[in-house]
Amino acid sequence: MRKLIVANYKMNGDSALYTSIVKKLNKIKMLDTSVVLCPPFVYLDLFRLKNKKISLGVQDISNQINHKSTGQISPHMLNEFSVKYSIVGHSERRALGENDDLINQKVKLCIESDIVPIICVGENEKDENVDLIQNQVSSAISKVKRSSKIILAYEPVWAIGTGEIPSVEYINKQVSLVRKLLKKKRFNDFLILYGGSVDEDNYANLLGADIDGFLLGGVSLRLDEFLKIVKGVDNA
Ligand code: PGA
Repeated sequence: MRKLIVANYKMNGDSALYTSIVKKLNKIKMLDTSVVLCPPFVYLDLFRLKNKKISLGVQDISNQINHKSTGQISPHMLNEFSVKYSIVGHSERRALGENDDLINQKVKLCIESDIVPIICVGENEKDENVDLIQNQVSSAISKVKRSSKIILAYEPVWAIGTGEIPSVEYINKQVSLVRKLLKKKRFNDFLILYGGSVDEDNYANLLGADIDGFLLGGVSLRLDEFLKIVKGVDNA
């Protein structure tokens, strides 16, 4: 089964760490697993990737190409660094005030710019009303061409960085809502990832869920553990 692993380094690391990560990852071999690395913008140039299974992503993108956008990073700039993916609507950005409208604008701009959006959705509290996730997905893909390639990351906010993990049944219940919605809207080129406190002890069990891979946060910075997960997923 082909799987995708996305590493979200968030606002961590330094040039020494990323230089060693790139050196090591350029040498690893994978058969059926692809990896996307999402460093902070300022380190993009360190990510000279020579491994065909590994692509470059970012953690956010501007919602516009207007030059009067202080502090923003445009799709054109990302294209210049061979960025192929962008996380959009991570809960840590939603917490800063990103709303569904803005997220939809970013998704559309990604697609126009040949960047695959990795759209994060997820409830804040355990057992929260399922309508929330459906609304997050529907608005994120509103007016997006159904032939577009998109990635959905189901990340329950209560599981991010907390060490608390949903059961496989719980993940399947939420993921099946997302899957049904995308099928109803006739999208056919999509993957669904799970994210939230994945580590070397729980990933094998989580792989039993109906998912196409993982969005990894904290564990991405622990290179040996990250590599174990990548290899384990590839051999699964
Ligand atoms: P975590 O983060 O793996 O550290 O829980 C996941 C994420 O925020 O995407």
